[in-house]
Formats: sequence, structure tokens, C-alpha cells
Amino acid sequence: MIKEQLENLIKNALKEATQEKHWAIPKDFDIPITISPHKNFGDYSSTLPLILSKIAKDSPMNIAQLLLTKITKDKYQFVEKIEIASPGYLNFFLQKNAFPQEILVLKNIVSSLKTFHPRPIIVEYSSPNIAKPMHIGHLRSTIIGETLAKLYETLGYHVIRWNYLGDWGTQFGKLIVAYKLWGKQQEIQKNPIDNLLKLYQKFHQELKQKPELEKLAQEEFKKLEAGDKTNKRLWLWFKKESLKEFLKIYNLLGIKFDILKGESDFEPDLLPLIEELKKKKLIQESQGALILPLDEFNLPPALIQKTDKASLYFTRDLANLIYRIKKYHPEKILYVVGNEQSLYFKQLFSAAQILNLDPLTQLEHIKFGLILDAHNKKFSTREGELITLKEVIDTGLKNSLAIIRDKHPQWPLKKQKQLAQIIALGALKFNDLKSFRTQNIIFDWQQMLSFKGNSSVYLQYTYARINKIISRAKIIQKPKIELLNKELEKNIIQNLLEFKDIVQKSAHDYAPHLLANYLLSLADLLNNYYEEVPVLKELNINRRAAQIVFLKTAATILKQGMEILGITPLKEI
Ligand code: ARG
Repeated sequence: MIKEQLENLIKNALKEATQEKHWAIPKDFDIPITISPHKNFGDYSSTLPLILSKIAKDSPMNIAQLLLTKITKDKYQFVEKIEIASPGYLNFFLQKNAFPQEILVLKNIVSSLKTFHPRPIIVEYSSPNIAKPMHIGHLRSTIIGETLAKLYETLGYHVIRWNYLGDWGTQFGKLIVAYKLWGKQQEIQKNPIDNLLKLYQKFHQELKQKPELEKLAQEEFKKLEAGDKTNKRLWLWFKKESLKEFLKIYNLLGIKFDILKGESDFEPDLLPLIEELKKKKLIQESQGALILPLDEFNLPPALIQKTDKASLYFTRDLANLIYRIKKYHPEKILYVVGNEQSLYFKQLFSAAQILNLDPLTQLEHIKFGLILDAHNKKFSTREGELITLKEVIDTGLKNSLAIIRDKHPQWPLKKQKQLAQIIALGALKFNDLKSFRTQNIIFDWQQMLSFKGNSSVYLQYTYARINKIISRAKIIQKPKIELLNKELEKNIIQNLLEFKDIVQKSAHDYAPHLLANYLLSLADLLNNYYEEVPVLKELNINRRAAQIVFLKTAATILKQGMEILGITPLKEI
């Protein structure tokens, strides 16, 4: 790839200059090189002299001069000339035919991304709580987590998708009390999740008048922990019904988890873990409870066991983390969980450090912001409750169906519905992925379903448009790639060449929005092309054949990118 070759050329020059000047260049130093913002600055520019200035204690222009003398460009025939520009840029002007040739390289761009990684990556995401509806906060985790999983898979990693269900804790004591007092099996069976939630809410209402319920709940949970048959049966039933609902949503979103081990699965590990922590003198007693001091990390202590000996979210997470590391030796574990658990994960990762678990495993809290409505308010029902995921998806489907019926009134309803579903789900995902994840996102179906930019529909529409040209062109002639010499063609090829860097950076920085925005700008360029270059009317048939090769390449990359984001490319829209 020309960009990689340019990078080598600069690297070699830098090496020579460094030997001469004894600069202290850091080991994993990245050569900066980007597409030039304007024709006058060539095709690619590097800010290397500016960056080196501090290390070299010299002016950027002097450094640029020196580097220029070290560049041996005769080995790189595709470089036409190199210029220096103030305040310290190196600008590279390439030969005219350099870009068309790259079409051949682009064919293998996706497979060239895959490299071998001996250790897997665990992506933990979604992780809803059972006996409650999955709410819109879990949507962000689900979408971001799945995209990170796909990004790392594209880079050749073995990815383990882990759904850490919230299926244990004192709340199940409350639910069991509520069920025993007011629940009716038949009624719950009709609409399990909603009715279980109602029972749970009723418990809290009644609690205001009857504080003794709290103690009852603690006892029921203790019984559950001790393996009481009735309570265990009830809990298993709540879990089974919840999973059924969750799976419906995952199926709709096209997501499949490898592991569904939740909090309850780590319950048996807790006592031995607490014993070990005691033996190692890592935990202390504090007013009857056990705590893990984290002063050395400037963090509040983590509660390991409550006064009533009940186990905790933290302790289960720690046991789970130890299990993951011992069993999988992962390169990374990504926890895709909202901003509000930031302190918690700092504590958890510090505990891992104290325990001296595998230092080669990198632990990351992948946080994200809230979902707001079109008026910038927290997205909730009129009663102030979080909107469930099911409600959101249903509204999206309704809105998208209305648009499709308008566009294709003659289509059978089944076909309209199929398309509406693909479009609505794509919009849901893209809306979540297009801005950096720690930002709050706005939920506005009108904008999300717009055909005119900043949306997944726009990408789908662009993809369909290119495909229309490809399918209409009858190609019998040999393509002459070098005839792809228009400025816009160059721009598009140059953009397509960025795909590799973008995918790598999106994965390494846990930033799918980079890929999302890249695809939007690629779609802009392709729409310009569609409007400005009438491929099907091109008289030079060798050039037309080349244009089709070019469009096919662009379509393949657009498709790959969309698929990483979970958006279905459409041949017709
Ligand atoms: N179940 C939790 C919730 O809904 C999220 C779990 C996050 N993951 C973890 N390892 N603690 O808030």
C-alpha cells in the first residue's frame, strides 16, 4: 500500500537522521502521515518535523530540511516530489498513476487486516438483570460491545462474547417474598417479565408501611443461597423466563453470545476467595464487615462481605475475573458498562493488581454516556421510568414501516416489513455508534431514519445506488485501470486506502465512531461520484470497465464497514 511505503520511506530517513544527531526517539514511535487537506500540499503530509522538534531541540523547519536530505526517493518511483512547508510539514506529491494501481491492493485490504494473536479477547457486554425488562441503558452496552467484538474479529482475534447476567443478589430475596405474598403463577406466566417487575415494585411500595418486609427478604435470600428447594425453583423459573425475553432481543439484533455465565455462577467461588484474601492478609474487618483497602490506589476500600455475611456484586465480579484470567489467559478483557460504574471498575482492577493476576491481561472499562430524548432529557416514560428496549424497538419499526410504505406503496406488506426491520435496526445501532461512546446520545427517530446523511439509511441507500450501476453495466472489455485518472477517483481511492488504519484505530481506541464517520464521508464521496460521473454513459469502454472494477471495490469496502457496525447492506431500498 502506498501509505505504508511512504511510512517506510520516512522511517528510513528518520533512522539515518537519528544516527547522525543522536535523537532519543521512543521505541514504538508512530510516523504521522495523513491525507493532505489541499492539493497545494500534495497527496499526503507528515507533521513529523513538528513532533520531533521537542525531542531534537531544533526548529521544525531545520528538521524537515535534514529529513529531506536523508530521503532516498529513487526506490519509491511513485513519489513525484517532496516539499517542505512551514511551520514544519513534509508534503508528498505522488505520480498520477500511483492511485489507480492501488485498486489491486484494495482487493485484499480486509484479509490483510487479519493477523495471528495467540491470546483471545473477552468482550463482556449487555449483561442485563434478570426478572427485569432490559432497558435502554443495556442497549448501548449491547451495541457497542458487539461492534468491538466484530472489530477485533476483523483483526484476526479469537473473541469471546460474554453476557454476565445480573442473576444474583438480595433483590431476589425481595422478589421471592413478593411472589410468595402476592404472586400468582398463572398470571405471571402470561407476561413474566412485566409482572415480575410489578411484583418487585409492589414490594418497595409495601415496604414503606411494613419495614419488617426487609428482614423477610434477607431471610429468603439467605435460604436461596443455602440451596432451599422452593426458592431455588422460583429463582430458576424467573431466570428461564427472563432469558427467553432477552434471547428474542438478541436474535432481532443478530447477536450471539459464547458465554452466558452470570453472577450466580461465581457464588461457589466466594468463600474460598474470601479465605484466600484473609490468608494473604489483604482484607480487614471493619464493623463486622470485610473490606479490601485500596489506599495505595487512592480509592475507597471495596466491600467484600457485608455484616450479615451476604455476598456482594464486587466479590462475585472479582471471582469471575480470576476465573476468566485462569481459564482463558486473555490479551484483554473489555467491560462494556455505563459511565456510572467508573469508580467501581477502578476498584475492581486495582484489586486484580493487588492479587497479582496475569499482568499480560489488560483490563478495560469501556464506558458510555446516557441516552437522551429529542429535548435533551433523560429518555424515560411519562411516569419517569426507563424506557424498555422492546418499546424502543417497536417504535422504530413503526416509524420505519411508515416511511417504506410511503416509498413503495405497491410492495406486499411482508416485503415492506422486512425492509422496515432492517432499516430500523440499522438506525438504532448507527445512532449509538456515530459519536464517541462517552458522549450522551440523542434519540430522535426522525433524524435516525433520514435518507440524507448522518444515518445508516444513508449508507444503505449509497450502497444500493452503487449496486444499481454495477448491475446495469455489461462489461465485456478488459478494464484499463490507469484510466481512472479523474481527481474524484483519486480522492475516493485515497479514502478507501484509509480503511485499514481506521479499522485498527477503531479497535485499539475502542472507538467505533471512527469507523462510522469514515463510512459517512466515504458515502458522501460516492454520492458525488454518482452525480458527477455518468459511468453507464462512458464511451471509452476500457475506462468504463475500470470504473466498474473501481465501484465494486468501493462497494466491498463500504459493505465490510457496515457489517462491522451491524448494519445490513441492501441491494435495493
Ligand atoms: N448487570 C449490571 C447492570 O445491569 C451490569 C454488569 C456489568 N458487568 C460487570 N462485570 N460488573 O447494571
